Amino acid sequence: MKIAFFSAKPYDKTFFEDHNKDYGFQLEFWETHLGPHIVNAVDQGTEVVCVFVNDKLTVEVIETLANKGVKIIALRCAGFNNVDLAAAKKFNIRVCRVPAYSPEAVAEHATAMLLTLNRKTHKAYNRVREQNFSLNGLMGFNLHGKTVGVIGTGKIGKAFCKIMLGFGCKVFAYDPFEDEGLKSIGVQYKEFDELLQSSEIISLHCPLSAENHHLISAKSLELMRKNVTIINTSRGGLLNTHDVIQALKSGQIAYLGIDVYEQEEKLFFKDLSGSIIEDDDIQRLMSFPNVLLTGHQAFFTEDALAQIASITLNSISEIINGMAPKDAAVILV
Ligand code: NAI
Repeated sequence: MKIAFFSAKPYDKTFFEDHNKDYGFQLEFWETHLGPHIVNAVDQGTEVVCVFVNDKLTVEVIETLANKGVKIIALRCAGFNNVDLAAAKKFNIRVCRVPAYSPEAVAEHATAMLLTLNRKTHKAYNRVREQNFSLNGLMGFNLHGKTVGVIGTGKIGKAFCKIMLGFGCKVFAYDPFEDEGLKSIGVQYKEFDELLQSSEIISLHCPLSAENHHLISAKSLELMRKNVTIINTSRGGLLNTHDVIQALKSGQIAYLGIDVYEQEEKLFFKDLSGSIIEDDDIQRLMSFPNVLLTGHQAFFTEDALAQIASITLNSISEIINGMAPKDAAVILV
């Protein structure tokens, strides 16, 4: 049985080929992302496509896949905002994902971004390499004692809350579903507006949906404390980039750490070092000294990649064999 991988990188090949020794599927790796431009090239008889965060599975793409005999769309990631699930259902294609591979990987990256920004280690690294040991301009602030607002307390948000509690922060959270375990260790759930008004640091850990698109925009930024720090490792569409740029210019946002970006599919996971980037917003963001941008790497640990490969191949195998995967969250359609 053939699985066609899209947006495949050398590390995907390494981990999937290694784990495939237990399954013996035929694996085909495509570097390009999946979208209308390439879907016709998928071989007739391919039963599974394995996709990542920036592949675009629109109704047209899904219909073509169905006509080619595709039975399963396997997302090798947690988020699924890029797949038209209603279309998959209509064309009788099962959709699975990896609901949790290493929530700690993402939570730790969010923490790394926060610590880089608040202690300016990215600047210090460059400075000492130039034999400049001056401390001017490197003053940071303690995390201990600060109020951290966590939006979304699912698997990643929960791990992030625990890390922040370990730093001695006061942790406020907003999520339509409150987690009793988190409450018992000191996390306080607040209304959304109250969390915005009272947090010195805000970290986003909710999925992107039609309802929370641009959750952070001029309206919500206005409610926040002056000099707020915002970390987004979830999805770019949660932030209105234009409004965030304005808030950086006015000083409303003191520090911004983003691992995701609204228009990231044109940029991320590619080496564009020799190219002219036409996206002015990302160029503006990169020009701020108080903005740290990483290219969707929060998940990128060897522990997480091993789990992604193992869970994805196992789910495909179970679906093909008519078994329901043990974790219900794996199956979306
Ligand atoms: P999860 O499904 O375990 O938790 C999401 C939580 O967000 C749930 O508790 C849900 O009730 C809550 N939620 C939904 N809408 C909300 C809203 N408007 N406001 C507040 N809370 C809301 O998901 P998990 O595994 O924690 O992942 C969270 C997100 O992180 C994913 O959806 C994905 O977008 C992103 N992610 C990013 C990665 C990266 O490498 N940067 C890697 C993996 C996930």
